[in-house]
Amino acid sequence: MKKLAILGASGHGKVIADTALLNGYDEIVFLDDDESIKTLGEYSVVGKTSETSGPKADGYDFFVGIGNAIIRQRMQKSLVQDGCNVVTLIHPQAVVAYDVTIGVGTVVMAGAVINPGTTIGDGCIINTCSSVDHDNTIGDFSHISVGAHTAGTVTLGERCWLGIGAVVSNNISVADDCMIGAGAVVVKDLKEAGTYVGVPAAKIK
Ligand SMILES: CC(C)(COP(=O)(O)OP(=O)(O)OC[C@H]1O[C@@H](n2cnc3c(N)ncnc32)[C@H](O)[C@@H]1OP(=O)(O)O)[C@@H](O)C(=O)NCCC(=O)NCCS
Repeated sequence: MKKLAILGASGHGKVIADTALLNGYDEIVFLDDDESIKTLGEYSVVGKTSETSGPKADGYDFFVGIGNAIIRQRMQKSLVQDGCNVVTLIHPQAVVAYDVTIGVGTVVMAGAVINPGTTIGDGCIINTCSSVDHDNTIGDFSHISVGAHTAGTVTLGERCWLGIGAVVSNNISVADDCMIGAGAVVVKDLKEAGTYVGVPAAKIK
């Protein structure tokens, strides 16, 4: 029996659970620090995010289902240090080219397309119907939101968040810790961390 414990009982966690079901997991539970949350849909919340020893002893795999990149990175690091088996989840209806490498703790959601020559880091979210084109490097704990797209030869740093429907044009590099707002279009390198919005994307914070 394949068993998975997901840290973070949220809507995002629910989509991860659905992807996990299609990856053959029979038993799925959640861990969350909000003690008022007892269930998420049909799934039980069995403890806090720090309470991993029980599921670990019971043979559960682990996945961090939290949108905030800094928290996701901290939790995944702690799971790995504790010897928990953090897995990678790829929805069967995602299209991933033969030579793409995908790191530990990354989820690729339904309808996503990842083209050849691309490297996806650890702890990334390649969300529903997004696309990452050829020869990209997507840094650890970055998030390509629902319907966002990167063109060819894009490099995203660590902990970047490309908002829903945003676009990064070809041959662009984005520094670590850049938040690119919903619907933004990035046409020049983003050289410093910050929040960028609009068409063309400009720094607001
Ligand atoms: C970019 C973003 C993070 C900014 O959030 P914030 O730091 O809370 O900023 P605010 O909402 O205070 O907005 C600051 C200003 O930027 C503008 N702004 C915010 N997001 C914008 C966007 N995506 N495009 C254009 N302008 C935007 C606001 O209208 C506001 O302008 P004003 O000062 O003239 O009123 C957020 O608006 C956003 O786009 N989030 C993406 C969410 C998403 O994609 N979720 C998908 C999950 S799959």
